[in-house]
Amino acid sequence: MEWIVVRDYDAMSEEAARRIIERMKAQPDLVLGLATGSTPVGTYRRLVDAFRRGEISFARVRTVNLDEYVGLAPDHPQSYARFMREQLFDHVDLPADAWDIPRGTAADLEAECARYEAHIRELGGIDLQLLGIGTNGHIGFNEPGTPFEARTHVVALTASTREANARFFERPEDVPTHAVTMGLGTILEAREILLLASGPSKREAIRRLYHEGPSPDLPASALKHHPRVTVIVDEAAAADI
Ligand code: GLP
Repeated sequence: MEWIVVRDYDAMSEEAARRIIERMKAQPDLVLGLATGSTPVGTYRRLVDAFRRGEISFARVRTVNLDEYVGLAPDHPQSYARFMREQLFDHVDLPADAWDIPRGTAADLEAECARYEAHIRELGGIDLQLLGIGTNGHIGFNEPGTPFEARTHVVALTASTREANARFFERPEDVPTHAVTMGLGTILEAREILLLASGPSKREAIRRLYHEGPSPDLPASALKHHPRVTVIVDEAAAADI
């Protein structure tokens, strides 16, 4: 794992965007794995700016996302599909059929997980996967205890994850109880991974990721088995490393 500590959220976003832009220029048909949450918002804003400056194009890019809430339709204001359209897809030249996000309203969720895995395989795998990290060390929605080899699956969200994400919903009880997430095994197959973390709420997860060996107690530690991971953290998140 390569560790890069930068000053603050903006510097983290700048560094992440710079690396993604570089990869997109080198490989215009990049398969990009994307993440949701507040962490990548600044990175997406910079990608949109780079597109508007004519520096990059998404015309040949294909994207997949890590996860989606069960029960939220793609146009639901808190769905990750809607988030991605608002933060990135609607502002760039990514073709309408070039992105995929697990469908949280699929009647048969098991079949949806299998479809998603097959789609990633058809794309030839993920070239560059962007990740945030949950306060309990989850990546995607792979909660503590998830086996490292898990494929895309349905998960029950922990109380702490539902609490952490309640800020996006009107009432805490509106936070869905389940999600579909790419598995750790799926994520580990990405050829390159960028994990971002910012702010004091991530300090403990980052301390453990830095100091502890791989263990399912800390899902992000699965990344220690991967040969090309860069962690970009700001000083507040890196305070204990
Ligand atoms: C959610 C998402 C994760 C994300 C995490 C952290 O649980 N499923 O992919 O990394 O939140 O979110 P934030 O970036 O808002 O701190």
